[in-house]
Amino acid sequence: MKIIGTGSALPEKVVSNDMLAGFLETSDEWITTRTGINTRRLLSSDNLGELAITAARAAIETSHIDIENIDYIICSNVANNYVTPSLSTIIQGGLGDCSCPCMDLNGACAGFIYAIDIAEALLKTDRARNILIVCAEEPSKFCNWHQRETSVLFGDGAGAVVVTGGDNLLSRRVTAKSQKDVLYYKRPLESTPYDRSTENAEPLVMNGRDVFRMAVQGSLSDINALLDDAHMQPDDVDYYLLHQANMRIINSIRENIKQPEEKFPCNLQRYGNTSSASIPILIDELAREHKLKEGALLMLSAFGAGFVTGGALLRW
Ligand code: ACO
Repeated sequence: MKIIGTGSALPEKVVSNDMLAGFLETSDEWITTRTGINTRRLLSSDNLGELAITAARAAIETSHIDIENIDYIICSNVANNYVTPSLSTIIQGGLGDCSCPCMDLNGACAGFIYAIDIAEALLKTDRARNILIVCAEEPSKFCNWHQRETSVLFGDGAGAVVVTGGDNLLSRRVTAKSQKDVLYYKRPLESTPYDRSTENAEPLVMNGRDVFRMAVQGSLSDINALLDDAHMQPDDVDYYLLHQANMRIINSIRENIKQPEEKFPCNLQRYGNTSSASIPILIDELAREHKLKEGALLMLSAFGAGFVTGGALLRW
């Protein structure tokens, strides 16, 4: 598998830490020192479907593949306004001349790596030649905005890639270990005359310390396993592109494998945690700034609710 096109799109509204401190008991100092986040982009007059389509179009354009030659769309999304139809079919509708199969997956913040895993299987078994992966997330819509613990952490956004056959994906790994209480969002369902339990909807609940610990441990075990598989050392990797959750999580991982800061490009300072969209948005920014040289070795690593993790080692 190889990545041949990238795209991203972010909401127009920029929300600073000070703006949050206007209605939450928090401060720029608390948020910056605990998370590294300065601003985030939040949906207001725009919507997630539009962002996803814009990111998808940009990825297809840079891939130089005609839209009719995209033969699968995989969309990673935790939640959006439509439970059904899938967001991937909504994206397909916005792309014009496209009638390929579409699927959504919910791999939480590790959804991009899960999508890569599935895309590689489809390519390897000749079920598809060119696959569009779109990660589109609006975590701001499932946070409790009266609760400072979670609402300051997230941002909305979409990132996309087009992948095709190739031998640039050296190895990948996805894991899951059921831990539903550390991080969850229960959305409302309709009540029925037979079941009122559907009324127990709850905005995002997070045990920050457990998430921190599981994120660092999970990411390190994926990184080390992928390096072992490839008979490589941490020094061999040019860039570590980690899920943009929190600068302290990223720094803990970085310090453990004794690598310099410049190998860990980050944009969470500007965008906050955009869940599964964070890695493809970062890849798109680096590609557009010509920071990814051909042949560069990239280590991708993500972790999220489930608890799930995923890593991929690939050549650019
Ligand atoms: N502003 C001010 N104070 C706050 C805020 C806030 N936004 N949020 C929490 N606090 C308070 C708490 O109420 C608590 O107060 P108390 O001590 O009076 O009870 C205190 O700050 C907690 O402080 P710390 O214990 O120092 O916080 P900690 O160092 O654990 O940092 C954090 C909290 C940032 C959530 C940390 O646990 C963390 O990074 N966890 C990982 C969470 C994460 O990144 N989730 C991302 C989503 S999931 C994913 O992407 C996989």
